Amino acid sequence: MTTPDTDSERLKQAAAAAALELIPRDCVIGVGTGSTTNYFIDLLGDIRNHIEGAVASSEATAERLKKNGIDLMDLNTTGDLPVYVDGADETNTRLQLIKGGGGALTREKIIAAASHEFICLVDESKCVDTLGEFPLPIEVLPMARSYVARELVKMGGDPELREAFKTDNDNYILDIYSLDITEPLELETRINQLPGVVSVGLFAHRPADRLVVARANGTIDVMKATA
Ligand code: 5RP
Repeated sequence: MTTPDTDSERLKQAAAAAALELIPRDCVIGVGTGSTTNYFIDLLGDIRNHIEGAVASSEATAERLKKNGIDLMDLNTTGDLPVYVDGADETNTRLQLIKGGGGALTREKIIAAASHEFICLVDESKCVDTLGEFPLPIEVLPMARSYVARELVKMGGDPELREAFKTDNDNYILDIYSLDITEPLELETRINQLPGVVSVGLFAHRPADRLVVARANGTIDVMKATA
């Protein structure tokens, strides 16, 4: 178990501990990627005998689940999952998210889509009125990276290729700065339609169902989307 050494890390761990209380027992759960989710995985290890196993959204998560004695399952054989637990880079009040800071957005999106409930864990610094201060990650096929970057410039964005990084699917990530994300549903659809885009880290069509927010004053809020 990692010991949190900053206030922000303590909040991530607090959100993870609260999420542990929300997950059903004796079933397979989906598990996301990132530092917040890592705290959740380590806590999950303590109750490993009460879950059947987990579907991992990245190689890093698979490795950590294994270290914690949790059986790995293949989404192709589990069918839909009751719950998916993951962090996010930003969330608005509709629980639409920016994800992909860790580069695992495609597998995360697949598992979120195949899950009945998506529980998202954040510290309060990730809660925003309008998405987009965090650069929007887009996974692209290698031959499409320049084309997709040019199209994103036409949409008003400022793309940067993530340096020295390949995804678990052997693709590149473009991080898009300065995008107007006031209409997340439309923007997600538009970016998805660009040839060469594998997936975009905008989770608007499949937002979170519940948001666990750890606040600096020590409280934990479990929230549903507001209209
Ligand atoms: C990885 C993700 C993460 O959930 C997101 O980047 C948040 O990470 P962290 O919990 O480390 O702040 O989408 O692809």
